[in-house]
Amino acid sequence: MIRLWCCLVLAGLCASSCAGPVRAEEVADQSPSSGDAKVQLVPGDAKLGYQLLTTKAYLPPVFTQANMDEIWRAWPKELRERAATVDPETRRRIIFERYGFTERIGFDSGAPDGSGKPLQYVVDESGRWSMNCLACHGGSVMGRSYPGAPNNRFAFELLATEMRNSKLIRGKLPNQFDVGATLMPLGKTRGTTNAIMFGVGLMHYRDEDLNLNGKLVPPAFVHHDVDAPPWWHFKKKSRLYIDGFAQKGHRGLLQFVMVEENSGEQLRSWEQDFQHIYAYLNSIEAPKYPFKIDMEKAKLGAKVFQSHCAECHGTYKTVASLHKFESYSEYRVAIERVGTDPVRLEALRPDGRAKYGRGWLSHYGREETIMEPDGYVAPPLDGVWASPPYFHNGSVPTLWGVLNPKLRPTVWKHRIVLDGVADENFDRREVGILYDRVTGEVGQNAEPQEVFNTEKFGKSNQGHTFPEVLTLDEKRQVLEYLKTL
Ligand code: HEC
Ligand code: HEC
Repeated sequence: MIRLWCCLVLAGLCASSCAGPVRAEEVADQSPSSGDAKVQLVPGDAKLGYQLLTTKAYLPPVFTQANMDEIWRAWPKELRERAATVDPETRRRIIFERYGFTERIGFDSGAPDGSGKPLQYVVDESGRWSMNCLACHGGSVMGRSYPGAPNNRFAFELLATEMRNSKLIRGKLPNQFDVGATLMPLGKTRGTTNAIMFGVGLMHYRDEDLNLNGKLVPPAFVHHDVDAPPWWHFKKKSRLYIDGFAQKGHRGLLQFVMVEENSGEQLRSWEQDFQHIYAYLNSIEAPKYPFKIDMEKAKLGAKVFQSHCAECHGTYKTVASLHKFESYSEYRVAIERVGTDPVRLEALRPDGRAKYGRGWLSHYGREETIMEPDGYVAPPLDGVWASPPYFHNGSVPTLWGVLNPKLRPTVWKHRIVLDGVADENFDRREVGILYDRVTGEVGQNAEPQEVFNTEKFGKSNQGHTFPEVLTLDEKRQVLEYLKTL
């Protein structure tokens, strides 16, 4: 994904696909006559969408199976010694755990498909690994693969660094990705990535029809990490992203695969695939809380939620006596009012949004794009228990922290044991990621990628002080209620 600008900058040349622009509208537009403001959606097949995501490579391969099998040689001493002594299957599982990979599962069974392949990469018959959308959007819930759950364990930068180092140790040459990854920050902390800047980079080198435009100078980057939202909210939304700038549509989903190797023509030819992927996203259900819920307490919590939270986060049917139907208004809250980290909002410039709004991705302006959104959209809270960490930058590990601004940890890390045995890593008391507060001593031993430091740029855990008016009892009731969603 980062190869596009790295290669252009490094090699100083443009791929052959930079050939003269084709007005793409004639090639692949499936919408009604241009006078009609509505964009027609061809019905997609959700199962096919899932199969495409997990088995069709839309990005070029970046690793080989042989490289992946040897990556542990670049691990810290203790871990490396353990990897050297265990059997290959245990080692494969430890490699999965270290980078946030989970087993690929069957669409119908929901159980591991036995291929030994990860959900997060497409692995072809020659053993070549290509990243897919599920690298960030497919994680685990209670230790089991859950496509559509944000991958809160994905360690993108650690993966790239150790892949490169393991090749150097073994005297192998780095590939373009290995080199490119030294130039573009991928994500400073486990579970979050620099995805917004990948998007900015990919858009920069395309014209409005998605053809490569031959630009050589990179765009202005404001690197910062964000947490992927759960895909089970997709069906409730008409606008996408935390600032809601883009109208929901299948074409917009292609922006993450606009790397140099994919010509404009190639990208546009995938339109139908992405209608199936769109249908798949629309079909995903939020997971149900698997433990006992104190329904008496949750009922009280539902009332507190109704008066303090529903205005922004909508209403839900889970406590039967209260609501007969669900509502969700996609309410955008001004940044001064919500008070969470502003970097994400400011990092996407109006001209970048405008370009998105003029081009093929938004059906040449027939989908509405908001150039200067003033804040963040309150997300739906279905399945919120299963999508930690919280806020768009993933700065708060548990729901109890969301409800108690003063108790949020300043520096924290996931409590992950790398032993080849999938575990829940779920904190039932605070509801969210099982984490440790990091103090001086723990911090010294921790690998940088494991530590979430909320004092760093773009990583603030401040704001959203709305729950502060609640009593301690009311907060406990709301926490119980949130488990029902
Ligand atoms: C490197 C990580 C990464 C990859 C790979 C990735 N995404 Fe995302 N995606 C994100 C992040 C982070 C956001 C949140 C951006 C924001 O809100 O500003 C996001 C947002 C989205 C949203 C909006 C969801 C919402 O509720 O607003 C959709 C839809 C989406 N991605 C689909 C895809 C598809 C389809 C692919 C593959 C073609 C993909 N993503 C690949 C990280 C990623
Ligand atoms: C004025 C509108 C508003 C009110 C009132 C409000 N919220 Fe929020 N909430 C937001 C916005 C906006 C965000 C997204 C902030 C961000 O990601 O930076 C958010 C985020 C959250 C999140 C994190 C969701 C996630 O997946 O990251 C939770 C949980 C939450 N709110 C719960 C509550 C609860 C419980 C209440 C009531 C006690 C409440 N909110 C009141 C606007 C509101």
